[in-house]
Amino acid sequence: MNYKDLIAKLDKSQMPRHIAIIMDGNGRWAKLHKTKRVFGHKKGVEAVRRIVETAVEAKLEYLTIYAFSTENWTRSKAEVNYLLKLIMDSLINEINELIKNNVNIRFLGSEKDLSEQYNKKVLQNCKKSWNNTGLHLNVAMNYGGRRELLEAFNKILQDIKPGEMADQKIDENMLKNYLYTANMPDPDMIIRTSGEKRLSNFLIWQSAYSELWFTKTLWPDFSREEFIQAILDFQKRKRRFGAR
Ligand code: FPP
Repeated sequence: MNYKDLIAKLDKSQMPRHIAIIMDGNGRWAKLHKTKRVFGHKKGVEAVRRIVETAVEAKLEYLTIYAFSTENWTRSKAEVNYLLKLIMDSLINEINELIKNNVNIRFLGSEKDLSEQYNKKVLQNCKKSWNNTGLHLNVAMNYGGRRELLEAFNKILQDIKPGEMADQKIDENMLKNYLYTANMPDPDMIIRTSGEKRLSNFLIWQSAYSELWFTKTLWPDFSREEFIQAILDFQKRKRRFGAR
C-alpha cells in the first residue's frame, strides 16, 4: 500500500506526539553494496529527507533523530570529519525547504567538543525556523543521555544560590527543565533500524515509558511506508504508564 493510503488509515486521535529515531545501519548498507561507509551516510541523508517529509505529511508534532552521539568521536578521524560536515551541509542545504514546510528545527546535544564556529553556524541556521509552528525536528548532535543528565545536574548546581542549598530538592519537573528537551513531550515511540535492540545512551531519561519499535531494515532503506506502519503498530499498543 502506498504511504499516502497508509497515512489515511492513521487514527488522528491516537497520534504519537513525539517519535524519536536511532538511524542505524549506514555502515552495513555500504558494506552490502560494496561501497565506502561514507556513501552509506550519504544515502542516510536521503532517508532523513523522506522521513521528515512524511512526518510533516502525517502531521507529527515532534521528530527527534540521532545524528551523532558523544560516543561517535571514537570512529576514525576521517569518518568523524565526514559526518560533522555532512550534518552541517545538510542543515544549510535544507533549511529553506524546511522553513517553507513550517518545520521548527533544533539541535539537541552538548556544545562541548564542537568548535565555536560550528555551534554558531548551527544556531544561526536553526534560529531562522523558530517562528514555525509545524513539525518540531530535533537533530540529536553530539548527544549522549548520560552527558545530558550530568550537564543538567551541573547547571542546577550553578543556579542554586548560596545559602539556599539546604532546603532545595531536585524533583522531576526541575530536572526536565534543564534537559536539552525542556518544554517538549517525552518520546511516545522510539524506532531503531538495522536489527539492533538497544537504546545506546539515547534519551535515557525521556524514554522511561516510550514504546520501542525495532526493524531489521538498514537506515538508508527505511521507507515512508515502513515509518507509517510503525505508527499504525504504535496505535494498536495499550500504554499503561505503570498503571494496571
Ligand atoms: C549509524 O550508522 C548512523 C550514524 C552514526 C550517523 C547518522 C547520520 C546520518 C544519517 C547523517 C544525516 C544526518 C542529518 C541530521 C542530516 P552506522 O554508521 O552506525 O552503521 P553500522 O552500524 O552499520 O556501521
